[in-house]
Amino acid sequence: MTSEVLEFITRRRSIRKFTGAPVPREALVTALQAAMAAPSANTVQPWEFIMVTDKEKIKELCLAHPYAHFGVNAGAVVIPFGKKEGYKWFTHDMAAATENFLLAIANLGLGATWCGMDDARQDLIRPLVGLPADLYAFALVPIGVPAEKKPPHTQYEESKVHWEGY
Ligand SMILES: Cc1cc2nc3c(=O)[nH]c(=O)nc-3n(C[C@H](O)[C@H](O)[C@H](O)COP(=O)(O)O)c2cc1C
Repeated sequence: MTSEVLEFITRRRSIRKFTGAPVPREALVTALQAAMAAPSANTVQPWEFIMVTDKEKIKELCLAHPYAHFGVNAGAVVIPFGKKEGYKWFTHDMAAATENFLLAIANLGLGATWCGMDDARQDLIRPLVGLPADLYAFALVPIGVPAEKKPPHTQYEESKVHWEGY
């Protein structure tokens, strides 16, 4: 049981090479269900998701982000977004949902990479998907059928663990 859980989690790697094949919609919906199963402070659940499957739009988005150019051949892009202003746990909740999404994608045999979005990148991405200025694009995640294999890794380091206090 324990090793199954660990295996599930460590299967998620950042995949940056894609075959160009489309990503089945059902797989995206399953991953969205996983995303929305994330914990959220006071159950605010600030998340919404823009799902892009149009090839030209995928290219445009991935080229607009300075570190997502690898994604031009992806089969989909997800942009988790929400109202950041006035909600202090926005980043925490959005990160939990994004990680859940990535875990599901990896375990469906697909690949993806979390590409970070900050204040400076908002105006690069927002106009391409019609996202209004009061909503914050939290991440840009190219998803596809993997054209590269990466082994599971835990990155476990005993020295980072402090049992019963520092
Ligand atoms: C907040 C955040 C932002 C990231 N931004 C990018 C990015 O812009 N481009 C990219 O190729 N990878 C990005 N990554 C992926 C990391 O490079 C990757 O997770 C790290 O190298 C560890 O590899 P792994 O995901 O295979 O375990 C980001 C990851 C996080 C958590």
